[in-house]
Amino acid sequence: MNIIIADDYNGMSLKAAGVVAEFINKNPGALLCFAAGNTPAGMFEELIKMHKSKEVDLSSVYYAELDEWVGLGYSDRGSCCQVMFDNYYTPAGIPKEKIHIFDGLDKDTKTQCRLMEDWIAAHGGIGLTVLGIGMNGHIGFNEPYVPDTKGCFVVPLDNVTKSVSIKYFDRPLPVEYGITIGWSTLKDAKNVILIADGEKKAQIVEASLRGPMDPSVPASLMQDHPALTVIIDKGAATRIRGRFSPFR
Ligand code: GLP
Repeated sequence: MNIIIADDYNGMSLKAAGVVAEFINKNPGALLCFAAGNTPAGMFEELIKMHKSKEVDLSSVYYAELDEWVGLGYSDRGSCCQVMFDNYYTPAGIPKEKIHIFDGLDKDTKTQCRLMEDWIAAHGGIGLTVLGIGMNGHIGFNEPYVPDTKGCFVVPLDNVTKSVSIKYFDRPLPVEYGITIGWSTLKDAKNVILIADGEKKAQIVEASLRGPMDPSVPASLMQDHPALTVIIDKGAATRIRGRFSPFR
């Protein structure tokens, strides 16, 4: 595990964008999978700047959506696809045919899972995934104790996730389920980046990185990934400083 601690959110975003851009430049045609949520917003901004200044071609790779709230679509502010299109795909000018998303409005979730699994398989698996960490340690919508099942599935949302969800929405939305790429498939990604910022995440970052690998904290299950890079800011690193060395 390579751990990079940036001074602040901007530093974390810049570093993560640099690592992603380097990967894209070396691996055109690869499949990437980005978390939505608030954490990657700064990284997306940096990547788009780099795209515009031609340091990287964000259209040279393919994308798989990590997760979605079941029942929500693009017109719901705070849905994963709204966040991804408005913060990344549209400003980066990524052609639609390079993107595969879960349709959260489709009641046939089995088909949605199968289509995503087919998309991932057709692109030779995920080359790089950038994952946020939920307040309960979830990655995507892999909530605590989600089983080790390959592929994609629908998960009942944990109470922590439901209460945190209101920060994304502009009106009360009764979300109960998430559809997600499963952690076991994410773990098959050739490269994994975990990002987190702020002291609010310090406790769950500690549990994810230094606690036992435990299904109660899904992010901890990534600890033994052979190509895991953790990029966090000093706030999120508050409880682990001194326990890993060297810091970079
Ligand atoms: C959300 C999403 C995840 C995201 C995580 C952290 O609920 N399901 O994909 O990475 O929780 O979100 P944030 O970055 O807003 O803290």
